[in-house]
Amino acid sequence: MPETLVLPSASDFHIHLRQDDLMNMVVPRIAEGGVSLCYVMVDKPNKIEPNLKPPITSTKQALDYKAQLEKLEPNVTFLMSLYLSPDLTPEEIRKAKANGIIGVKSYPRGVTTNSDSGIESYTVYYPVFKVMEEVGMILNLHGELPSDLENDVCVMNAEEKFLIHLKKLHNDFPKLKIVLEHATTKAAIETVKSLGDTVGCTITIHHLQLIVDDWAGQCHNFCKPVAKFPHDRKALRHPRFFLGTDSAPHPAHLKECAQACAGVFTTPLTLPYLATIFESFNALHMLKLFACENGKKFYDVKEKEDKCREIKLIKETWSVPNSYSFDDRQEAKIGIVIPFWAGKTLTWKIDS
Ligand code: NCD
Ligand code: DOR
Ligand code: ZN
Ligand code: ZN
Repeated sequence: MPETLVLPSASDFHIHLRQDDLMNMVVPRIAEGGVSLCYVMVDKPNKIEPNLKPPITSTKQALDYKAQLEKLEPNVTFLMSLYLSPDLTPEEIRKAKANGIIGVKSYPRGVTTNSDSGIESYTVYYPVFKVMEEVGMILNLHGELPSDLENDVCVMNAEEKFLIHLKKLHNDFPKLKIVLEHATTKAAIETVKSLGDTVGCTITIHHLQLIVDDWAGQCHNFCKPVAKFPHDRKALRHPRFFLGTDSAPHPAHLKECAQACAGVFTTPLTLPYLATIFESFNALHMLKLFACENGKKFYDVKEKEDKCREIKLIKETWSVPNSYSFDDRQEAKIGIVIPFWAGKTLTWKIDS
């Protein structure tokens, strides 16, 4: 077993960086985790803080947000996305592309108008997808149907039941690059593999580790999509795909409560978690492809050389911090975030 591992700094193709105090805490920790490039998710505004409000649907908003992130961390490359909504026009797509925005994130909504088996129909977006295909923008899918008791849809099968929509989108736009975000099932992996080079998927750190038993009753492991069965986890442990952590910090008091927010925070320890987990299934040799190469290749993006660094990982036993604070309301747990695997042992550390 090697005692050191040298890699280029990694790329995270799905990250939530939030706003205000939480953003100020999270953004400087990207580099700490060994990452130098990230693709920033904007998503929809959540009922509960701290998703982005208002949602980023215009080029100008995305560029303003990017400027805030770059000011906090000039050494990281931030690639930006827009949020798919009926307001997004083909003209806005051309403008976004011209301004370096690389993709559009779709989060299926359960609505009744224009609805198609429980999700808002994608056909209203076809003029937008057509232009995205033409100009070479990526479509990022949160691939879950909303729960629907009449039709037996719940969090355990919401991804699998979404896959017919992925197949149809690919069939209708074969040249459009589509990423199924945070894949969690064997069915999704098999579908993505069957669809050829224009369809890929991101895999999170936590879904390489967790199964349903780990989040049922354990709020800090609760995320969407939820972690599934052991055979699903096994299927995810595959190098063809690439890292998108979906790191999603929430203040601890919104996790440790009757209705926990979904999201796992991994940003400060991206490569130490990955090396520890990959080693546990004898796949350290696949880490570089998964975390540093496959994603940039799929997205066809290059990083400025001065931003990509060399990361040296050393074999050392140490503990994940119990929390990260972002404001002074720590006693009430309002001002802290509990990271994934808090207090647990990691076996790899970044040599600093
Ligand atoms: C989701 C939400 O608000 O429902 N957040 C988001 O889209 N940013 C959380 C989820 O269910 O995944
Ligand atoms: O667990 C999740 N948290 N899944 C998502 O898709 C959104 C994210 C968040 O923003 O909190
Ligand atoms: Zn998502
Ligand atoms: Zn996400």
